[in-house]
Amino acid sequence: MSEKIKIGIIGTGGIARAHVSAYRKLPFVEIVAVADAIPGKSAEFKEREGLTEAAAYDSHTELLKADLDGVSICTPNVSHHRVSVDALRAGKNVLVEKPMSVTLAEAVEMAQASRESGKMLSIGFQPRYDPNMKLLQDIVQSGRLGNVYYVETGGGRRRGMPGGTFISKALAGAGAMADIGCYSLDMALNTLGYPRPVSVSAFTSNHFGTNPLYHPEASKFEVEDFGVAMVRFENDLVLQFKISWAMHMDSLGATLFLGTDAGLKVTPAGSGPWSGVWDGAIGSMTMFHDEFGGHTSTAVPLIGHKLNLFDEKVRDFAEAVRDGRPAPIPGEQILIQQAIIDGVLRSADLRREVSIELPQ
Ligand SMILES: NC(=O)c1ccc[n+]([C@@H]2O[C@H](COP(=O)([O-])OP(=O)(O)OC[C@H]3O[C@@H](n4cnc5c(N)ncnc54)[C@H](O)[C@@H]3O)[C@@H](O)[C@H]2O)c1
Repeated sequence: MSEKIKIGIIGTGGIARAHVSAYRKLPFVEIVAVADAIPGKSAEFKEREGLTEAAAYDSHTELLKADLDGVSICTPNVSHHRVSVDALRAGKNVLVEKPMSVTLAEAVEMAQASRESGKMLSIGFQPRYDPNMKLLQDIVQSGRLGNVYYVETGGGRRRGMPGGTFISKALAGAGAMADIGCYSLDMALNTLGYPRPVSVSAFTSNHFGTNPLYHPEASKFEVEDFGVAMVRFENDLVLQFKISWAMHMDSLGATLFLGTDAGLKVTPAGSGPWSGVWDGAIGSMTMFHDEFGGHTSTAVPLIGHKLNLFDEKVRDFAEAVRDGRPAPIPGEQILIQQAIIDGVLRSADLRREVSIELPQ
């Protein structure tokens, strides 16, 4: 394709700016349309961002009538499903922000719309672009740990609760589980080759979000700020998953892979009250193993890089559109973790273990 590819941005709130900034660094991309459901908001965004050539729309359906090769969907979680399905059916390639959706049924329909339209559906997990994520995957999949039978992942912010659309049940669908839990799940599941979950037992709470001492919008706080779950997989693997937007603790621990021959401890990069979760790069990796009849540990040398992970995710999507490649982070795969989030929310609601039924 020698011409520039034409991109539209749907949802012109906070994260849309990062998409615009990343596309702007790509000489083969032009942003030709922006849309927001709030009347006039996309026009203001277009002015502010200096997108003089772009058309501004007050609905995603109007934008989808335009001649576009792909769209970035930057709307709140609950609308990811509707907007993605509409975009795919309108023949546009889709990069949708994380989490993929709220329920499993939505994720299944999104993946189906992608298959039927022949257009790609890629989910926006930028931590995948840390080269150390690939290193982690290579170590685990090389068999160096033996049979991996237990994984613990997730993380916690000491104090890091968002507000606005993120705490509304009607717009976000879920809280910490969907907002930051999806990163931990993608990190662990991608490392393991996305095994198939069969059941989950979970608990969620919102002691911090609903307390005016801790959240300025406590009266509007409708989602969970903490969640913990035990997930069983088909191959006798279990995963313990815990996530927290706020807590009286410095950390919920590292991500651990326990294997029959070795174990691996992985910590996220960054520090401070909003850190401790997997929305960025790997900070350290240590392997625990026995050598010469004794216990020892090896610090895995990390790959140094200066990549902007967010820019990398947008670049990979845009290049895939240009080159006709498959989705870099396919919806077909991510629906497996969406099944876990769906199971967590159902189990927490019912206060018992629930089974996970994945489509064949
Ligand atoms: N990958 C990341 O690092 C990252 C970071 C922050 C947010 N996000 C994700 O991005 C999404 C948006 O987050 P945000 O912080 O930009 O939220 P936001 O509330 O700031 O912006 C969302 C915008 O979408 C608009 N909108 C809602 N429904 C729409 C529709 N049907 N059509 C068009 N516009 C619509 C809203 O009016 C709003 O302007 C969320 O799903 C969030 O999880 C990802």
